[in-house]
Amino acid sequence: MSSDQQPKRQRAGPGAWQAAGATAKGKKVPSTRVDLKLFQSDPVRVLYLMAQRFERPLIGLHLGKSFIYVVQHPDFARHLLQTRVENYRKSYGPIAQVFGDSILITQGRKWQKLRKLSQPAFATARLKSMPPVIAAATDAVLEEWAPAAGTGTPFAVDRGVQQITLNVVLGMLFNASIASFGPRVMDEVETALVIAARFAWDVTGEVRRRRPDLDRRFALAVQRVSRMTRGFMLRRAAVDPQPDDLLKLLFEARNDPEFPEMTDRQVRNEIVTFVIAGYETTATALSWTIRLLAEHPEMQARVQAEIDQAVGDRVPEYDDLDRLPLLGAVFAEAMRLYPPVPMLSRFANEEDSFEGVSIPKGLQLTISVVALHRQAALWERPNDFWPERFLPEHAKERYPFSYLPFSAGPRACIGHRFAMIEGPLVLARMLQRYRFSLGPVSPSYVWSISMRPKGGHQLLIERR
Ligand code: HEM
Repeated sequence: MSSDQQPKRQRAGPGAWQAAGATAKGKKVPSTRVDLKLFQSDPVRVLYLMAQRFERPLIGLHLGKSFIYVVQHPDFARHLLQTRVENYRKSYGPIAQVFGDSILITQGRKWQKLRKLSQPAFATARLKSMPPVIAAATDAVLEEWAPAAGTGTPFAVDRGVQQITLNVVLGMLFNASIASFGPRVMDEVETALVIAARFAWDVTGEVRRRRPDLDRRFALAVQRVSRMTRGFMLRRAAVDPQPDDLLKLLFEARNDPEFPEMTDRQVRNEIVTFVIAGYETTATALSWTIRLLAEHPEMQARVQAEIDQAVGDRVPEYDDLDRLPLLGAVFAEAMRLYPPVPMLSRFANEEDSFEGVSIPKGLQLTISVVALHRQAALWERPNDFWPERFLPEHAKERYPFSYLPFSAGPRACIGHRFAMIEGPLVLARMLQRYRFSLGPVSPSYVWSISMRPKGGHQLLIERR
């Protein structure tokens, strides 16, 4: 691919339902059966293969004893996420046990109150104070990586990247760091998420029955994360005056008669949710971005030239983001190819229909973000790493709801802008210091709430 080629307008205009082999009124939705075990072990791969095989807006999927609709068309995604959002409740399965009934999970009036309460923590003025927190968290890990530089020995960057994003979210929202929770917090969260993902499609409870050891380990991990969070809450409650952050807002809401739902347990749920939702996804996006740059040295060199020119050696600042369009585009393109949240699941509260397809009450629908992001009907050269398509001048050319790394509509990610500041600033700091190249490539993936290669992204680093 020549990098000077210009992306053309994305396809999938209004006729796309027909063009995609569509569901005209009364026509049956095609359906397929997939082995439940295969789906549980690697749902992203299954969704990806389904998208290649069935270029259809909607596919019925039989999974063991259950049946779901897989949504592959942006108009249908808009229907679920925006137009009829009130009719589609979230379905998180066992992962909900890790978070508790928090902003991510809950619905209706309680969700509205939680969202409104948390919003000030994501206001622009607040986000502008991110760069020093990001630089400190990143520099600490870059120092840890220094001995590996130039040795020719690959190492998995994933854990270091997670450490950065966890410290950024803890620093920004809770004036805390990994040490405030205890060094084991990352391992316990990881254990809980990986096991929850294995249980996610276990509708009959078969996996849980067959693997009581996993069930116990899951319960233990959730318990330990809760204990560490409660310990942190107690220590923080003793601080006077309270730092001005999200936790202060949550603590204050406990005394608000209009907010009877805000119990200690609810505060715990919110902390755990913001911590996990904030760090795991961002780390996944960052690791894939670094890996893609390692695979594409010419793009890495162009991004480094952009950083050298706009920032030089100093700590990147908020205003630098506008001067780093290619870096922002690289981060966005990495999330298109490897969306950290590859599917969005919902249940229909009431019977509904869209484009002649009837949706029975109680049916589960999964928006295949992987399919939307890689469809030839929506994207030119869908499987290529082609960051230029995300340069600001092409933003208007995208078909609505075709790019959903952060979801869309009222339940879209509250941390969208947070992540779009953090990602490029972490990358800028890393690329100022190191050049990345590819080590051995893992053939398989680990699936928790997001997708990572088994054994991590094995990369080589060299000082610039
Ligand atoms: C690259 C990074 C990120 C990605 C790809 C991402 C993706 C998403 C997606 C897809 C959803 C919707 C989930 C659904 O509908 O089931 C979501 C929701 C959410 N995200 Fe993020 N997220 C990222 C970073 C963050 C950060 C940095 C934070 C907080 C600091 C955060 C906090 C949340 C919360 C609290 C929700 C629930 C919002 C609600 O339902 O009102 N996320 N995220």
